[in-house]
Amino acid sequence: MARINEHYRKLSSGYLFPEIGRRVTAFAAAAPDAKIIRLGIGDVTLPLVPAVVDALRRASEEMGNPSSVHGYGPDQGYDFLLDAIRERDYTPRGVEIDRDEIFVSDGSKQDSANIQEIFGLDQCILVTDPVYPVYVDTNVMAGRTGAIDERGYYAGILYLAATEANGFVPDPPAERADLAYLCSPNNPTGAVATREQLTRWVAWARANDAVLIFDAAYDAYIQDPALPRSIYEIEGARGCAVEMRSYSKRAGFTGLRCAYTVVPRELTGATASGERVALRDLWARRMSTKFNGVPYPVQRAAEAVHGPEGRKQTADQVTYYMENARRLRAGLGAAGFRVFGGEHAPYIWMRTPAGLSSWGFFDALLARAHVVGTPGAGFGPSGEGYLRLSAFNDRARVDEAIERIRKAFET
Ligand code: MLT
Repeated sequence: MARINEHYRKLSSGYLFPEIGRRVTAFAAAAPDAKIIRLGIGDVTLPLVPAVVDALRRASEEMGNPSSVHGYGPDQGYDFLLDAIRERDYTPRGVEIDRDEIFVSDGSKQDSANIQEIFGLDQCILVTDPVYPVYVDTNVMAGRTGAIDERGYYAGILYLAATEANGFVPDPPAERADLAYLCSPNNPTGAVATREQLTRWVAWARANDAVLIFDAAYDAYIQDPALPRSIYEIEGARGCAVEMRSYSKRAGFTGLRCAYTVVPRELTGATASGERVALRDLWARRMSTKFNGVPYPVQRAAEAVHGPEGRKQTADQVTYYMENARRLRAGLGAAGFRVFGGEHAPYIWMRTPAGLSSWGFFDALLARAHVVGTPGAGFGPSGEGYLRLSAFNDRARVDEAIERIRKAFET
């Protein structure tokens, strides 16, 4: 008899985005003439930039030539990409990262899901709430939690509420935890952590011998150059933090798949007997066992994002999406909604109109405005009473969505 991993049965429901997809498909079947505008999942809509397409084309031609075909690549990624990452993402911000501390992968979703594997099952997890569901669900699947309660909290996870009162960036708690997931700019609230706030988190992690899992998938959307883009801009972070970055949102790679995780050499965890072990070595072992690398043409495409044309062209796309975010914020704010985020992130976090739950507002928005959002409650109990709108869409559709929402909910 094949016994299942019963921890999966603790999961509250289906993964959030497929659940939204099912509801939208059912609505579209019932109302075939509705012109649905999708501001739900944060998926890019602009095409790959020319510098990336050229790199893909050239690399594909190399792959079709006996003298330049590439088989399995180096475990952690090709040097040309590791060097581009070091020189473009870190050195200009005063951070030195070595090649062997960078692990190129096919997505920050996978990396943030898999990193928990190198930690003990008895470790206490901390998340901010609302939260990208992957951090929580993967720890549930691994058996690191108890059951979910009627409010939506899993036993064994420490939740820190991200609220209007704390600007959606909670400070570290008085309690200790072993692993803390932080995402800045934040998915889903669109809030961004300041240098002072990250400094407090690094101090907390060091005082508690904890590890920060810092997800910077949206760093390209930070508009203020004084805000930190990397946790390693904070002194002491190399000894307590893993960092993840992605080409998905910064360069439209959601369908191409490339990201990377940094695990500094001096970052260690303890064995039961107190011996210190480099987390980098465990992650290297995990990756070389379970992953065969990102395709050569995709790594060449990622390298092109760091080149002069790639930087300019992808920055223009970020500017385009951020103008969408600005319009959503301004338009919905003028229509009387309470809106947050959207200043350093491609997400708007809005309060639901009085009397509507997150899912109630999601349904009303779909039925009355034919606009798809993401219910805040899907990101955790503190997301109840909010809805997330993504700025990833075509300008005309964003403008149309604002107008439709305004009309549908005008009082
Ligand atoms: C989101 O909409 O939250 C993101 O697209 C999810 C992801 O990046 O996996």
